[in-house]
Amino acid sequence: MNTELFKITDENRETQAAVSAIERAGKILKSGGLVAFPTETVYGLGGDALNPQSSRKIYAAKGRPSDNPLIVHICRWEDLAAIVKEIPGAAEKLGRAFWPGPLTMIFEKSELIPAETTGGLATVAVRMPEDKTALALIQAAGGYVAAPSANISGRPSPTLAKYVREDLGGRIDMILDGGPSCIGLESTIVDLTEGAPTILRPGCITKEMLSKVLGEVETDRGLSETEGGEAPKAPGMKYRHYAPKAELTIITGEEEAVVKRINGLLEAAMKKGLRGGVIATDATKDRYRAASVKSAGDRANEEEPARELYRILREFDEEEMDVIYSEAFAESGIGQAVMNRLLKAAGHRLEKV
Ligand code: TXA
Ligand code: MG
Repeated sequence: MNTELFKITDENRETQAAVSAIERAGKILKSGGLVAFPTETVYGLGGDALNPQSSRKIYAAKGRPSDNPLIVHICRWEDLAAIVKEIPGAAEKLGRAFWPGPLTMIFEKSELIPAETTGGLATVAVRMPEDKTALALIQAAGGYVAAPSANISGRPSPTLAKYVREDLGGRIDMILDGGPSCIGLESTIVDLTEGAPTILRPGCITKEMLSKVLGEVETDRGLSETEGGEAPKAPGMKYRHYAPKAELTIITGEEEAVVKRINGLLEAAMKKGLRGGVIATDATKDRYRAASVKSAGDRANEEEPARELYRILREFDEEEMDVIYSEAFAESGIGQAVMNRLLKAAGHRLEKV
């Protein structure tokens, strides 16, 4: 299959070429094809959420287990009612505060959503993204676009169109390139179907932000458990995701001690003939003796590692590292989501120094 690539930026958005590319992409989705598109979090792999065949195609293209449900993307609040059984008061409050944006809410699903889209669950995940290209595409497609992250299952979510092409080129009909994703990590997921609102996946919208709107908010216990603990409620969180080819270990502690320990580990790895990489920060990047050092940005600004993490993990894969050592990052704001993804990528290997 030939995969068409079309770039849409704020500069060309209003041109006839861009408008007709969106129309073409909408038609592809309506007729059961697949289109990858930018969102503010990560790139999504879209199909018609109301068409069971489209959902099957999404699972096949990603190599994703079909019990792992998809997020349905909408572009207008009015479209929500048709796909859910009821809209709880909490959802109205969250919608008003955070939609369009990087928040996904779980509802009881209506008959309109086929079981294929929700991996057989009676609930459905819904998000209204903020990215202009995403919103235009959803509208052109008829209002309901099922979209997981646009990566091969088990690889980091793509934050650039070139990563979508690497993973899915030749397997899907079209890729809309919107440049680098501005957040870089997947949306926060909140379950509104049982008891108190519960975070199933941390993201840019933090627990504190949700609590300001809703009062009490819980965090799924399955999230904090390591191997063998309670299963996470979002089926996707149980898979070993975001796993780089190299063995990744996180080293945490005072800066001096971390730099010293990582340099010691690198030296030992080198003696064994292993290629070592480091995920550092701007302040420490020149202090490591490694085959490859990548800075995740300014330590004081947790939005930078959020934006850079998946790109760095993919680059280390390309460079065929054997081992990677990463500094730990601040857990304030989106930093909590950064550490959640980093720990998963590391298979929970964390050393305190
Ligand atoms: O930021 C995002 O959310 C991106 C962009 C493209 O919107 N999408 C994304 O989708 O990250 P995906 O499929 O890679 O992750 C969806 C997560 C999975 O962990 C899945 O198990 C969970 O959402 N999920 C979906 N429907 C659910 C449901 N009904 N109940 C519980 N978890 C659900
Ligand atoms: Mg994903």
